Amino acid sequence: MRLLIHKTYDDACAWAARCIAERINERSRGRPFVLGLPTGSSPLGIYRELVALYQKGAVSFANTITFNMDEYVGLEPEHPQSYHRFMADTFFNHIDIDRRHTHLLDGMASDLEAECASYEAAIAQAGGIDLFLGGMGADGHLAFNEPGSSLHSRTRIKTLTQGTRIANARFFGGDPEAVPLTALTVGVGTVMDAREVLIIVNGYHKARALAAVVEGGLNHMWTLSCLQTHPRAIIVCDEEAADELRLRTVRYFKDIERAALGTAAE
Ligand code: GLP
Repeated sequence: MRLLIHKTYDDACAWAARCIAERINERSRGRPFVLGLPTGSSPLGIYRELVALYQKGAVSFANTITFNMDEYVGLEPEHPQSYHRFMADTFFNHIDIDRRHTHLLDGMASDLEAECASYEAAIAQAGGIDLFLGGMGADGHLAFNEPGSSLHSRTRIKTLTQGTRIANARFFGGDPEAVPLTALTVGVGTVMDAREVLIIVNGYHKARALAAVVEGGLNHMWTLSCLQTHPRAIIVCDEEAADELRLRTVRYFKDIERAALGTAAE
């Protein structure tokens, strides 16, 4: 795992967006680049930077296929708090992606289990996910894989914890009861199958979870700790989110990056 600690959230987002654009540009011809995407406030700065890179002509999404992580059950795609709407407003409407190449789980499907199974099949059909971008809940959750989720889980229906409903109430007029009780989400195993995983974490309120994920053991109560066993995982964070990490942990991850730069320069 790489852990990149940037001074500010904006620096972290600029780095992450450049990393994604580079990966897409490396695949300018041939098989489309398959990108996994999150919602939430953490990736907002990355989407902003990616749109800016697109506007400058530094990246094109014409040969990119996307799969989003999750969607609430029972919200119409047009609902202001649906993740369909979030993705259109924040990202898809501002870039050159072919909308037929964007995939989100349908939380209104009449058969939710079939919807989840066909989502997994669509990912496989696309050749698997090249890079999964994600965020982290303050309790260490990944997508909607709440604490206690199987680390081998696949796309399925999940009941949200009261903590997640309280955290997301800010988007639903401050009322946790207005937040849907269930969601469809890719599983931890689905994310782990991606060839590369990039997670953005920011703010003091994520610091305890980040320390558990990086320094604690592999544990289904902190589902993002799954990254410890991924061959190509990167967490990019700001200094606030790194606040609970041990000094020697921070120093070591910084040494790794310095050594990599030295190798590249040689
Ligand atoms: C929700 C989403 C996650 C996201 C998390 C954190 O639970 N399903 O994908 O990582 O919220 O959200 P935020 O980035 O707003 O802190």
